[in-house]
Amino acid sequence: METNENINVMPRIGDQAPDFEAVTTKGKIKFSEFAKDKWTILFSHPADFTPVCTTEMSGFALNKDKFDVLNTELMGLSIDSIHSHLAWVNNVKEKTGVYFDFPIIADIDMKVSKLYGMLQPNESETAAVRAVFFIDPSKKIRLVMYYPLNVGRNMDEILRALEALQVSDANKVAMPLNWRNGDKVIVPPPKNLDEMEDRLNDDSCERIDFYLCKRDL
Ligand code: BEZ
Repeated sequence: METNENINVMPRIGDQAPDFEAVTTKGKIKFSEFAKDKWTILFSHPADFTPVCTTEMSGFALNKDKFDVLNTELMGLSIDSIHSHLAWVNNVKEKTGVYFDFPIIADIDMKVSKLYGMLQPNESETAAVRAVFFIDPSKKIRLVMYYPLNVGRNMDEILRALEALQVSDANKVAMPLNWRNGDKVIVPPPKNLDEMEDRLNDDSCERIDFYLCKRDL
């Protein structure tokens, strides 16, 4: 197992996702063998049986079909035992009917949370912050979110950002502010003077100037 005991090192956008083996609610998982040819959303929550975490975890569970459509597997994590995870999953199922049908890492020794910079001691010395890692099928980290303990994440934004990454990759374009599927996309700006002249004469896109052109997909 790869470990990184330095909690100040946080994986960054463009890095390969650190590999690990962990005990989860779906059994032991080696991350490099998980979600082959798929995207992964790896996310941490501070603690089982807490209110904000329960709403967030339920949000992931209720949107699992949308993550499936986006060829994406979910994997949760907290520094709780497997027994706590199992009891919480069962409790939420009994109380609300929502079932957390994806692996949740029992990171009791904090190995994975340290590897992924999920421990931010000035926010909490005893719990992981609310991190979200968007990891592509080549296991490269493509987007990272960190939220504090007292603010829940936004499921619409997680889904929007995931789709934006995938559509951007597939079409070699960039996504403007608040992009949603169906909106115009940004044509990559020219990289030299010849390309700039071409762009200034290109009427196939909506051009504000050579560096800001949009088009439909
Ligand atoms: C919560 O999920 O409600 C929560 C967890 C840890 C600290 C504060 C709030």
